[in-house]
Amino acid sequence: MGLYSLVLCLKEWKRLVRIRMLKSQATPNSASDGAPGSDPALFREGMSRVAGAVHVVTTDGAAGRAGFTATAVTTVTDSPASLLVCVNTSARSAQALLANRVFCVNVLSAADRDLAAVFSGRTGIQGQDRFAYGDWGTLATGSPILGTSLVSFDCRISDARVVATHHVIIGEVVRIRLGEQKPALIYQERHYHTL
Ligand SMILES: Cc1cc2nc3c(=O)[nH]c(=O)nc-3n(C[C@H](O)[C@H](O)[C@H](O)COP(=O)(O)O)c2cc1C
Repeated sequence: MGLYSLVLCLKEWKRLVRIRMLKSQATPNSASDGAPGSDPALFREGMSRVAGAVHVVTTDGAAGRAGFTATAVTTVTDSPASLLVCVNTSARSAQALLANRVFCVNVLSAADRDLAAVFSGRTGIQGQDRFAYGDWGTLATGSPILGTSLVSFDCRISDARVVATHHVIIGEVVRIRLGEQKPALIYQERHYHTL
């Protein structure tokens, strides 16, 4: 094992020990508290308890096709219809999204759990190769639309800024594809669930 891998293993081990400590402090009747500024692990543990819908955010254009799994997606306004996506500045998709100026938010059903894993990089599949999985088409912007999504929102970027480690990107929705109504995929406590 190289030095770099050893350092990564140690960091991961420290993170898991910290999470275990936080969990052991909190019983059903006693809460654990602290200031997030001095304790990012506490914030991450807190956020892990928030159940979130799972999306695959995609883009295509001159800067190429890209896509990643995201829970940090929310509504901004309904007039004009707009959505907000937070993407880590280190994510490969970030540059493609910003350069193409378009993206699509595909909301996943429980049946697309494996697709969520592929687009999160956890299976080791990167870049364009991720699109070998799933049934893909396009609507107005050219961003990949997932045929099996609960709903897909095709967007043009109207605003973007960097906040610390993430690009906060707002898109105006130009087309919506409503899919079949079926159980949703949810992510909570670092696991997928069905709603
Ligand atoms: C359930 C889940 C939700 C995620 N949500 C986000 C997110 O909202 N924003 C983000 O930047 N990364 C998120 N990630 C991590 C990205 O999916 C992952 O880093 C991905 O490999 C980025 O791909 P890229 O580097 O090809 O762009 C999430 C991962 C998982 C498993």
